[in-house]
Amino acid sequence: MKGIILAGGSGTRLHPMTLAISKQLLPVGDKPMVYYPLSVLMLAGIREVLVISTPVDLPHFRRLLGDGASLGLTIDYAAQPAPEGLAQAFLIGAGHVGYDSAALVLGDNIFHGPAFSDLLAEHAKNVDGCVLFGYPVTDPQRYGVGETDADGRLVSIEEKPAQPRSNRAITGLYFYDNDVLELARELTPSARGELEITDLNRKYMAQGRARLVDLGRGFAWLDTGTPESLLQAAEYVQTLQNRQGVQIACVEEVALRMGYIDADSCYRLGAAMGNSDYGRYVMAIARELG
Ligand code: DAU
Repeated sequence: MKGIILAGGSGTRLHPMTLAISKQLLPVGDKPMVYYPLSVLMLAGIREVLVISTPVDLPHFRRLLGDGASLGLTIDYAAQPAPEGLAQAFLIGAGHVGYDSAALVLGDNIFHGPAFSDLLAEHAKNVDGCVLFGYPVTDPQRYGVGETDADGRLVSIEEKPAQPRSNRAITGLYFYDNDVLELARELTPSARGELEITDLNRKYMAQGRARLVDLGRGFAWLDTGTPESLLQAAEYVQTLQNRQGVQIACVEEVALRMGYIDADSCYRLGAAMGNSDYGRYVMAIARELG
C-alpha cells in the first residue's frame, strides 16, 4: 500500500498563524502537525509516502522530512497548485500509487487511541473497495457523515449536511484499492469547485464496496482547524505525554518499533536533537529497545 499525505490549502481559519507557514507544519505540542498523519501511515505498515502541498510550502516539508531514508521510508513530494479538492490527490499521486492500493491521510488530522496500529494493519491489507473510519461527534454537520448497514457497509454519505442522518463523522483517513485512480478521474468539480472525496466514496458505496469502521470510545480524533481546537489538541498531547512519559507520533520511535530502522540509527536521530526533551526521549527509546 502506498501513502499520500495531503497537506495543502491556505489555512485561512488560522490566519495570521498560517500567513508565512503551512498549517500542517505548525506545532501541535512539541512536534510539527505533519508528524501525526505521517506516523499513522507508518503504523499502517506504509513505507512509500507522497507529500502533496502547495508549491510554496513544499520546500519546507522537504526540509523537515527529506527523502525519508533516515526513517527507513521513501518520501516524495508533489505540488497541488490550488486547493481543488481532496480527491485531486489521486490525480496528482497516480504515478506514486501505480498498481498498488492507497491510503490518503489529511495532513491536519490527529488520531490517537488504543490498538490503533492493529486496526490499521488489519484494514490496510487486501483492501477491496474502500475503508473509511468513522468517529462519533457532537457537531457532525461540520464533516462528511456516514451511515452503515449491520455489516458495516456504507449506505449513505453526505458532505457537511445541514441535517445529519447520524453522528458519525468520516475522518480524514481513507484506504482504497487501485480502482481509486480510475474513479477519481471520473469525478467532476462540485458546486464549490472541488473534486470531493465524498463523491469518490459515494462511487464505492454505489458498488457496495465501501466500509465504515468505527473508532470508538476511548479514541481521540482531534481537530486542528481553529486556534482553539489547535490549542486543545496540543493540550491533549502534552497531558498524555507528561502523565505517561510516552510520546504520541514520535516518528523515530515508530520507525524503530516497526523495524524500519535499527536502534543505532534511532539513537543517532535522537542525538542530533539532543538539546530537546524530544531528542532525549528518542535516545532513551533507542537504548531501551536496542
Ligand atoms: O477532517 C475530516 C473531513 O475532511 C471530512 O469529514 C470531510 O468529509 C472532508 O471533506 C474534509 O472536510 P474539511 O472541511 O476538513 O476539508 P477542508 O477543505 O478543510 O480540507 C481538509 C484539509 O486538506 C485542510 O488542511 C486543507 C487540505 N486541503 C484541502 C483541499 C480542499 C488540501 O490540501 N487540498 C485541497 O484541495
